[in-house]
Amino acid sequence: MARGNLLYAQSGGVTAVINATAAAVIHAARSHHVKVLAARNGILGALREELIDTSHESAASIRALAHTPGGAFGSCRYKLKAPEVDRAPYERLIAVFRAHDIHGFLYNGGNDSADTALKLSKIAAEFGYPLTCVGVPKTVDNDLEVTDCCPGFASAAKYTAVSVREAALDVAAMADTSTKVFVYEAMGRHAGWLAAAAGMAGHGPDQAPHLILFPERVFDETDFLARVQAIVARVGYCVVVASEGVRGPDGRFLAEAGTVDSFGHAQLGGVAPHLAQIVKEKLGVKVHWTVPDYLQRSARHIASATDLKHALAVGRAAVNYALAGRNAVMAVIVRTADSPYRWKIAPAPLADLANREKKLPAHFVREDGHGITAAARRYFAPLLRGQAPPPYGRDGMPRYVALKNRPVGKCLPAWQA
Ligand code: F6P
Repeated sequence: MARGNLLYAQSGGVTAVINATAAAVIHAARSHHVKVLAARNGILGALREELIDTSHESAASIRALAHTPGGAFGSCRYKLKAPEVDRAPYERLIAVFRAHDIHGFLYNGGNDSADTALKLSKIAAEFGYPLTCVGVPKTVDNDLEVTDCCPGFASAAKYTAVSVREAALDVAAMADTSTKVFVYEAMGRHAGWLAAAAGMAGHGPDQAPHLILFPERVFDETDFLARVQAIVARVGYCVVVASEGVRGPDGRFLAEAGTVDSFGHAQLGGVAPHLAQIVKEKLGVKVHWTVPDYLQRSARHIASATDLKHALAVGRAAVNYALAGRNAVMAVIVRTADSPYRWKIAPAPLADLANREKKLPAHFVREDGHGITAAARRYFAPLLRGQAPPPYGRDGMPRYVALKNRPVGKCLPAWQA
């Protein structure tokens, strides 16, 4: 890239390890004497010229960032319209970049962010503004094309598999006189990766989870109830893992079929209480359910060591790509062997990832449609492997860092959206 500053921005839902990527970006850039500015609240911070100068943070704070969950600079859900529809935001971004001598842009997000980074790289070229745009992957949904997995996913997957195994022991202990069915809801939107990871909690048809409901398969209520009933009769209890994105035969999300949030808006999430209600009403047994929601994507205390290594590696590689002028690529994870697990980072064209969604492959789903295969286990095992707990203080609580986040002075008029 042309000499100047790097801008780093976080985008979309944050993860347990996205800050590790940020830490690696800052650390790598410092070793090349390049300043990293961070956008406050993702791309919105770039549009609003709300930039943070990370050079005020001590080396110890940046090290601690690597074990702190959340998104240290703030993230956002904000989709830029296509430049053919509204060119103004792209022109504004170039103006902000020019004003702050930014010639490298690292966008840490999912498929929407890959699309934005790609569009921005094209507009910058049209303007003749020297800018290298590099995507950095993250999402607990694990739904990015090309990359073998997405940083953030493995830690959420580990939380899911471990929680399901532990909760199943609880249910088993009480089932004779109390709860017979437990329903766990996994995030993941339209892709069943997180729900599938729950399958790592047990082996064989009698171990939990007994039933996984994938968003890739149409939900059939009659079949579901028959299976639950049979499992309760055989095992004594039944643990169900349902993806938040499960749809009925009409193509609508189950959670939308009557579930509303506190504002009265239909929201993705709420499949577990919905299913629990059906089981209670139709089978007349005691049910418990849980929606771990943000707990699964922020659970840094149970992070996977593999995930942490991936998160650090994509950050480091992204800086190297930017400095080498490798424009419009993403730093992706390439698996070269399952056992022993081997992987490397490689650049992939943003165009191959932008706006695409990778679903759970059919050969990862057991023949009966409600469990995982040996191939899925081979994929998940190395991702879940290894512990990377944060340091704990004398109060028994994890020691997370709060950065100074010192703002850079503004040079431009305020942004009018
Ligand atoms: O980031 C992905 C994700 O965690 C999805 O699994 C989930 O559906 C969604 O984010 C929740 O998003 P939000 O926090 O914006 O409601």
